Amino acid sequence: MQSSLRCCRGVLLVLSYHVLLDARIDALLVHVPTSSSNRQSVALGAHSLTTCLESLSLERRDSEEFYQYLSWIDLSHNKVREDDTENSGASIRMTMPLYPLGAVYMPTRNISNHTLVNVEPQNVQMALDLLGQAIHEGPTCNTDPANRPRFCAVLRAMDTGRIASIGTVMSIIEAEKQYHYGTEDIARIRLTCRAEELVQIFRVENGEEWSTKRIMKSREYLKATVKPIQSSEYAPSDNTSPLQEEVSKLAKDLKTIKTMYQLDLGAEDFPPDTLPKLGEAIQDIAVEMTEIDKDSRQFWDDLENDFWRIAQEWQSICYTLRQGQQSLLSAERNELMVEAACAKGGPLQLPIHMEDLQPQYRELVQRLEREAQQKHIELGMDAVLDFQVLISLADTAKRIEWLNRLMTRERLRLEKIVSLQFAQ
Ligand SMILES: *[C@@H]1O[C@H](CO)[C@@H](O)[C@H](O)[C@H]1NC(C)=O
Ligand SMILES: *[C@@H]1O[C@H](CO)[C@@H](O)[C@H](O)[C@H]1NC(C)=O
Repeated sequence: MQSSLRCCRGVLLVLSYHVLLDARIDALLVHVPTSSSNRQSVALGAHSLTTCLESLSLERRDSEEFYQYLSWIDLSHNKVREDDTENSGASIRMTMPLYPLGAVYMPTRNISNHTLVNVEPQNVQMALDLLGQAIHEGPTCNTDPANRPRFCAVLRAMDTGRIASIGTVMSIIEAEKQYHYGTEDIARIRLTCRAEELVQIFRVENGEEWSTKRIMKSREYLKATVKPIQSSEYAPSDNTSPLQEEVSKLAKDLKTIKTMYQLDLGAEDFPPDTLPKLGEAIQDIAVEMTEIDKDSRQFWDDLENDFWRIAQEWQSICYTLRQGQQSLLSAERNELMVEAACAKGGPLQLPIHMEDLQPQYRELVQRLEREAQQKHIELGMDAVLDFQVLISLADTAKRIEWLNRLMTRERLRLEKIVSLQFAQ
């Protein structure tokens, strides 16, 4: 029995590992809404490490001043806030579909593509409506960037059902429909999107009752009125050089960290080979130190583009590490559940459900999950909330400061491992 379990674990690790690689290719930003009918996920799915986002964010507010900038709104929120009315003339408001999910997107514009796979009825409907508005001959939507269909992706906290107040406008560049076998029913729509710009959400049109309708598989999707956040104001020119230097320092830090991953430091907390592969996959981002007129729009655009590229690269590192931890948890959890089911005697019924286990085993599984969650939080590589904070910060200098803090934390952790290894 023991050896077959070991073997089973090996297979799981290999499986997870492939998931890891695929996921890495898409920068792990694929979001597949889980179907509630899929009970198999109990036995085989990666167990989610963090979902209580709002309570976690409130907890962190005490120790991390930057978390003050993160705010959540109710879906029934439809009041115009005072600060919105004050500057209302400054930028245009738009109404567009609102897509609540468990991920945060950096506005990297045309630098990278994100894939969203829609299976929930309301998300499929949203995609169909949006595509109907655009020219949709062939798989490509619309080549004219200004006319691509758009929606707003926003982070949703599972614990409270609320959404973050800052979201990212996504434009659809390609759509692919997949049908249920032998029918014309759409099973899923895969959207290739670009993350265009950050917006403040100040009004959800139809948020009341939405959660209930969603559970009832209603096709009604959310709509929101949003306002673009002006990208950095032009700062006085004596401020811009230091900013450029700091972005360049971030790029350098990324390179250092890449090297340390390639050396496989601290590898025991992840499936085999995770870190070297990750290290190899990390892109070098060259920040050009330009001498152009520092008041020009071009200078700012370049600076911001470089910054968001680094931020996105950092986020995908966080996703990859989380996936690694999740794979280990799943493997250990499965092993324990098989052991528990065997201890009960009788033929092994798959999938194994938590509620079928004896209480002492259920407790063990729960403890395992809690410990993994704790470990994940301690690692400090949060791919979601820390990045929601990042897009919620109003100016470039603050964003650079925050990202620098996130990256420095990991660099110091790795350097500590190095120094311990050399001390031995
Ligand atoms: C993105 O757009 C900019 C300006 O519109 C262009 O200069 C650049 O080459 C594009 N990059 C990619 C990767 O398509
Ligand atoms: C994004 O997808 C489009 C359409 O498939 C493709 O032409 C483009 O090269 C992709 N861009 C990147 C950065 O992968």
